[in-house]
Amino acid sequence: MDKVLVTGAGGYIGSVLVPKFLERGYRVKAVDRFFFGLDKLKPHENLEIIKEDVRLLKPELFRGVDYVVDLAAISNDPSGDRFREATWQINHEARVRTAKISKQMGVKRYILTSSCSVYGFQEDVVDENSLTNPLTTYAKANERAEQDVIPLSTKDFCVIVLRLATVFGYSPRMRFDLAINGMTYGAWKTGKLPLMRDGSQYRPFVHVEDVSEAIIRFCEFPLLEKINGQIFNVGGDELNYRIGELGEIVAKVVREKTGREVEIEWYGDPDKRSYRVSFKKIREVLGWQPLRKAEFGVAEIIEKLEAGILDKTLETITLEWYTQLERWHKIIKELELYGGILNINLAGRLYT
Ligand SMILES: NC(=O)c1ccc[n+]([C@@H]2O[C@H](COP(=O)([O-])OP(=O)(O)OC[C@H]3O[C@@H](n4cnc5c(N)ncnc54)[C@H](O)[C@@H]3O)[C@@H](O)[C@H]2O)c1
Repeated sequence: MDKVLVTGAGGYIGSVLVPKFLERGYRVKAVDRFFFGLDKLKPHENLEIIKEDVRLLKPELFRGVDYVVDLAAISNDPSGDRFREATWQINHEARVRTAKISKQMGVKRYILTSSCSVYGFQEDVVDENSLTNPLTTYAKANERAEQDVIPLSTKDFCVIVLRLATVFGYSPRMRFDLAINGMTYGAWKTGKLPLMRDGSQYRPFVHVEDVSEAIIRFCEFPLLEKINGQIFNVGGDELNYRIGELGEIVAKVVREKTGREVEIEWYGDPDKRSYRVSFKKIREVLGWQPLRKAEFGVAEIIEKLEAGILDKTLETITLEWYTQLERWHKIIKELELYGGILNINLAGRLYT
């Protein structure tokens, strides 16, 4: 049985990816601080849960591990800008350290999940050879991590960098701060879809199940020389959507699924910031293409919302959740006495 260590395993992608690894017969070490809760992964005989901070991973943890999938990160632009220092530590330094320990401990393949946001906004269609243009702390830290992990590759230690398009679709750790998911919730809840004018700007997307299947494909792909030390964009050419087109898709699926009307409301000045990504390399080298389009993701989210098993809570907006956790941490630290707030530990402390 191959063993895979997944960092950030309790996150949006991790909680879809880990069950897929288990289904395929892998043994999984799921490493995470579990900031979004420990309930996102169901128990399984081949699953080991390790609650740990990726900045402090011990080499011992990597003994006998074949593959490392390094997902742990502060995972979007607003959170990266709000928590700059932590983002550099987690998204850059910890990933490089994790890659180095993996190499030292004899791991065969190390996979870093970077982001297409390293391209920033550009006029032309960009591919893996295009100049990058990272505009935020999140994108800059991703790029530095890429630059520092790739040179670690050798014939015995395969390093792969995946630049993911913006992900969409349902996950046990749901994120409504991702464009398609957020648009779907808004349209379903209010019947209104605010879109930034004029809607002609392009953005690349990919479904969370497809991303997970691509990651597994990279672990299993036999021709190492074709992927080692390489960067791959992960997505599909036909999933470069114009924002206006995406709005129409969301509105149509909400109408079909609920019978409710959805109105698109245009706002702001025309947004010219566009980016379109080529996914030719992953298609040609791996023979891999995403199977799910936006309609699929929108429909599955609406089904779960309609069934009352999904809602937009604080936890589903990454920045909101981290901000609240920091706020409550401060309050609790100030108030806590004898191991609690109202319920305290009296044992051995009472005297008569
Ligand atoms: N979701 C997307 O659209 C998208 C797009 C491009 C790239 N990515 C990348 O994919 C990866 C996973 O993203 P996601 O959407 O699942 O994000 P997420 O926020 O849902 O998951 C990140 C996980 O990392 C954990 N984590 C954060 N800091 C940690 C620390 N110091 N120690 C241990 N665990 C820690 C969190 O608890 C969380 O479970 C990230 O590297 C992200 O940058 C995601």
